[in-house]
Amino acid sequence: MSDADYLDRIPNNVDLSSNRRLQRALEEWQPKFLDWWREMGPDGFQTKDAYLRTAVSVDSRGWAHFDYVKMPEYRWGIFLAAAEPGREVNFGIHKGSAAWQEVPGEYRGVLRRLIVTQGDTEPASVEQQRYLGRTCPSLYDLRNLFQVNVEEGRHLWAMVYLLDAYFGRDGREEAEALLQRRSGDPDKPRILAAFNEKTPDWLAFFMFTYFTDRDGKYQLCSLAESGFNPLSRTCRFMLTEEAHHMFVGETGIGRIVERACQVMRDQGADDVRKCGAIDLATLQRYLNFHYSVSLDLFGSEISTNAANYYTMGLKGRFEEAKKDDDHTLKDATYTVEVLAGDRVVQAEESALTTLNERLRDDYIADCQRGVDRWNQIIRRAGIDFELRLPHRGFHRTIGHFAEAKISPDGRVLTQAEWDARHSEWLPTEQDAVFVASLMQPVTERGRFASWIAPPTRGINGNAIDFEYVRQV
Ligand SMILES: [Fe+2]
Ligand SMILES: [Fe+2]
Repeated sequence: MSDADYLDRIPNNVDLSSNRRLQRALEEWQPKFLDWWREMGPDGFQTKDAYLRTAVSVDSRGWAHFDYVKMPEYRWGIFLAAAEPGREVNFGIHKGSAAWQEVPGEYRGVLRRLIVTQGDTEPASVEQQRYLGRTCPSLYDLRNLFQVNVEEGRHLWAMVYLLDAYFGRDGREEAEALLQRRSGDPDKPRILAAFNEKTPDWLAFFMFTYFTDRDGKYQLCSLAESGFNPLSRTCRFMLTEEAHHMFVGETGIGRIVERACQVMRDQGADDVRKCGAIDLATLQRYLNFHYSVSLDLFGSEISTNAANYYTMGLKGRFEEAKKDDDHTLKDATYTVEVLAGDRVVQAEESALTTLNERLRDDYIADCQRGVDRWNQIIRRAGIDFELRLPHRGFHRTIGHFAEAKISPDGRVLTQAEWDARHSEWLPTEQDAVFVASLMQPVTERGRFASWIAPPTRGINGNAIDFEYVRQV
């Protein structure tokens, strides 16, 4: 897009300079954001040069500009995907009317809540990952962490732009509050539970970027279908950045798997931990934890809120516009798994109230694809082990499965069975201590920690031993 104002104090492609009120609101928020970044962003690295990608415009060449930058000087900006001329509301009771360029008055509160909830996750993950730089497994990984962090910062900007541009005074108050809450703080926690969990080590980081950032992808995809056009355009551009976060997660776990397999092949299966690698059983327990926590983020299986967001035209299904049905779902049904006594059974429910579950189904299918690729690495090494996604009811705290204890293979357990076996399925205290013992920083160019294989290629065509973060 040629109308990007990259040289402005706030880089943007929304013609910010023509809207003095908005420009002033964002320029007042900017120093508060920077204060938050310095206080809660990557600890100990604020003055280092990191080789980062910055969005300078939204066209395919301009949005991926690479250079060294000190993180507080990163050019956080506001970028919307190109407008689709003649776009309509594609679902719900307003289907067929022109997409909204302003917030419809009757949906103001609901829409603001959706934007704030999405916006709150962005700074939360930066806070969760604040101390990871100290124990990076390589400069390559350190740079990837920082890339994810600055982009989550930009995602916060994206949501704050919507709040300031379209929600007046309440929007400004919400934009302030987004900088006030703190991940894991009991007095002012982040909104969603998964964003108050700790990300204490790099294994958790890679699991988080694979599973929890992928929840973000599905939320953004359903908001990208929104009849509120500025939200749709914002989310479409955010998705291009989100893809990189999931790449970091998938390849990170893949490299840990590869390293484990290498040791198993060369030294024998019992020596993985002794050689400073992470055994596949431990990986499976971490996977179980992060996957189940991320499944909770989709909300209850039966949800009138989800039905309302859809009917109002605010939040669609994954790939709504590509689906071949009436896009109102008034009489449609959808099959969901429910608890019936001590069994999990299938039930037909209203397609509208089960929209959370349908999005969760899309997410699960997507998660499985990466697990399949990790299993290929294991198979190619000639090792007899398979990583598995646990049953959707396993270790849940939201929705009807929260009322029961479900095993990874989907059986309803008694409390006694759960107590006896859960340490086989979830990371234990000893696992955490072991993983923590591996977290020793490796900052020599081209070197990697003992628990992770090098990547197959570097960033932006650079060598693997490129100085992705300068030491001085
Ligand atoms: Fe994000
Ligand atoms: Fe992300």
